[in-house]
Amino acid sequence: MIKHFLALANFSPSEISTFLDRAYSFSLFKKSPDKINHLLKNKIFSNAFFEASTRTRSSFEIAAKRLGAEIVNFSPENSSTKKGETVYDTLKCLESLGVNGIILRHSDDRLIELVAPKLHVPLINAGAGKYEHPSQGLLDLLTLKKEFGELKGLRVGICGDILHSRVAGSMMVAAKKLGFEVVLMGPENLIPKNEFSYENFDKSLSTLDAIMMLRIQHERHDGIFMNQTDYRQSFGLTVDRLTKLQKHTIIMHPGPFNRGVELDDEAIEHPQSRIWAQMENGVYARMSILEWAAEE
Ligand code: CP
Repeated sequence: MIKHFLALANFSPSEISTFLDRAYSFSLFKKSPDKINHLLKNKIFSNAFFEASTRTRSSFEIAAKRLGAEIVNFSPENSSTKKGETVYDTLKCLESLGVNGIILRHSDDRLIELVAPKLHVPLINAGAGKYEHPSQGLLDLLTLKKEFGELKGLRVGICGDILHSRVAGSMMVAAKKLGFEVVLMGPENLIPKNEFSYENFDKSLSTLDAIMMLRIQHERHDGIFMNQTDYRQSFGLTVDRLTKLQKHTIIMHPGPFNRGVELDDEAIEHPQSRIWAQMENGVYARMSILEWAAEE
């Protein structure tokens, strides 16, 4: 059976833990790359990104290279997409050319689940519309695990445009599977109505083990009914609000961030910030995904 990596929702708690353990073990090889750079030798993956990306695209490429695989980068801007080729036809073309797996980012929530059964190579979700961003989910979990050891019992706040966030989507799935608490904060019109509790940002900040700040996903809806200054005032992790955090609380953000809107420069560079560490952990998380996908 072809192993697709489409959503954390498709994996059991023990399977997610296996990815995390393997990602953690890859982090230990940072100073001895020769020990792992043969694991995916002769494998070729394709990065097929139909939406912009800095972190995910580069970290999948670096993850592949660290394991000895090669990457073919596909960009719709200079491809036959311009001549009317469909996404499905692009993916089938890459499969026919002989890649061992395709890493897909697309703005459509459900396209990835529709095309996956028609492919004969693993398909890896690198961000699907507002649905899930499971490799980001794994790197966020790895960041929490490295910090706290155990995920069970943690209280994680997510603040911002949760309604349109695939990052939050994967985090909420993970919370239910792995037994930690997620509380939602932000403008009421950008919070989904679900089983997670909606809390007041200022009141709850001091109760959290981690606070994940999110960007307003302007590209996925018609805008927020608040200007940036008012947004920062109500929901930004400002210098003043940093003083409310407990000493052990970590600051997270999936990136890209809008400095001075959802968080101040001081929050990004704060000693309790793990934002840059999240990006590093993304390489390890994606190494574990590529290795899993390439296993016969
Ligand atoms: N976090 C994330 O998905 O960032 P990119 O859009 O830069 O890949």
